Order: sequence, then structure tokens, then C-alpha cells
Amino acid sequence: MEPVLQVDSLSKRFGSIVALDRISFTLEAGSILGLIGPNGSGKTTLLNTLNGLYRPDSGEIRYLGRPTRNLRPHQLALLGISRTFQTARVFHTLTVYQNMLIPLVHARLSRNEVQERARQLLTFVGLERSQALPASELSGGQQKLLEFARALMTEPRLVLMDEPFGGVHPEIKALLLERIREAQRERQVSFIIVSHEIPDLMSLARTVICMSYGRIIARGTPQEVSENPEVIAAYLGHPGGQGQRPATSLEQAGGHAS
Ligand SMILES: Nc1ncnc2c1ncn2[C@@H]1O[C@H](COP(=O)(O)OP(=O)(O)OP(=O)(O)O)[C@@H](O)[C@H]1O
Ligand SMILES: [Mg+2]
Repeated sequence: MEPVLQVDSLSKRFGSIVALDRISFTLEAGSILGLIGPNGSGKTTLLNTLNGLYRPDSGEIRYLGRPTRNLRPHQLALLGISRTFQTARVFHTLTVYQNMLIPLVHARLSRNEVQERARQLLTFVGLERSQALPASELSGGQQKLLEFARALMTEPRLVLMDEPFGGVHPEIKALLLERIREAQRERQVSFIIVSHEIPDLMSLARTVICMSYGRIIARGTPQEVSENPEVIAAYLGHPGGQGQRPATSLEQAGGHAS
């Protein structure tokens, strides 16, 4: 099957900062890629470039074989690339249900179809009872669930998620993890998931990429990447020190990593 995404030597600068430095990778259809790296390493910039918020300075992105360089986020959304944000972006004064309708305002679908899809997806993430509430009344974690459900409204082939588990209550995190796996298995959705939590990525992704200063410094299984000396050095050498180190399952299991 054709890869869902082919990224070739993608670069993006902000003045003197090289936020993306010749990034290349391929994402197979129906797979989940984990993306880690210290603060400021370029993870969000990569997602912003993949979904058309930023235009790359050079390099190529192909989505299902088609170059996306000149397409804007709403065009890419209708082609099947959805996105969630590091801080959930929901419309606080709209209801949970109304938030769900936003991605499809310009789609050629009947009202009934849109309503039915919104109800199904709210049930999928356990928010069906909250649909009439203003989104501002949801907890931070519930807003992330809403954002995830909303990202699925366009029936995407690829969902880009920026730190979906950050600051989220463990119960909601478990639900979100389960629903991401289900979307991948049953709807053949591919994901790129930014997270500092190696254990979460271990349960989701076969492959993890680590970025540092805009470059890919390691790729492999979550285990391999979390044990890679360059990755550990990148986290330790970063302002913020040890607190920035990716949490590994070995540490969680009792600190037997040597
Ligand atoms: N719009 C922008 N204008 C100028 N500089 C930017 C912009 N967006 C990002 N940068 C810079 O690009 C670099 C990469 O930032 P980015 O937000 O992509 O990092 P990140 O890996 O997502 O970090 P974090 O883990 O803190 O979310 C940083 O040096 C940042 O300051
Ligand atoms: Mg970021």
C-alpha cells in the first residue's frame, strides 16, 4: 500500500533559528509514529508544516503520493489530514456538540449525516452526555477528548496530535489511548503523536523519532530510542536538565536501567 506520508528533506527557519533541518521520514498507512524531543526541538513546527499552517522553506511533503506544499490547513483537512493542539483549541462559548460541527461547515454532506457522525463520535469518546454543555465546562482532559473526536469528523487518513496526554487525568488518558488504538485498528487511521512519555508511546507506536535542534537524531522502537545515548544526552543537555528526560518504562518499573 502507498505510504500515507513521505517527507523529504523538509526545512523551516524562523530568522536565525533552524526549526526544521532536512527532516525525512515515511509513514506507512495505518501506522502510528511517536515523536519526542526536548523543548524547542521542532516537534510542533513539524506538525504545523505537515498540516499546512507553515510553508516549508525547502523540501517536499507527499500525502498519499500527492505534493501538499501549496495547500492550506482547511484544504488538507478535507483531504484527510486532521490535527489536535498542544493546548486544546476548542471554542469555549459553543457547546460540545457545536464544536463537533466546525470541521464540516464547508463539506458537501447532508445535515443528517453530519449530525449522526457527531453523535457517534461523541459517544466514541464518552462525551455524549456533555454534548449540550458549553465546551468551557469540560475539564482540560475532556477538551482533549473533544478535540480528538472533532479531528475524526472529516474521516481523516492521518491525525497529527501534539502532546495529547500532557496534564490529562489518568482515566481520561487511558480512554484516549484506547480510542487512538481503535481508530488505528478499525478505521485504518495513521497517527503522528508528540509525547514525552515513552511508556505511552510504547503502547501505541512501533516507531519513534527523536528530534533535537530541528534534526532527527534517532529513530527506532520506543525502547531503542529511549535508550539511545544521543537521545539521553539531548534531554540532559537541554536547559531544564533531568526533568526533561523522556520517562522510560524501565524507570517506571523500578529504575533498573543501567
Ligand atoms: N512562529 C514562530 N516564530 C518564531 N520562532 C518560532 C515559531 N515557532 C517556533 N519557533 C521556534 O522554533 C523552534 C522549535 O519550536 P517548536 O515549538 O517547534 O518546538 P517543540 O519541540 O514543539 O517544543 P515544546 O516541547 O516546548 O512544545 C524553537 O526555537 C521556537 O522558539
Ligand atoms: Mg511543541
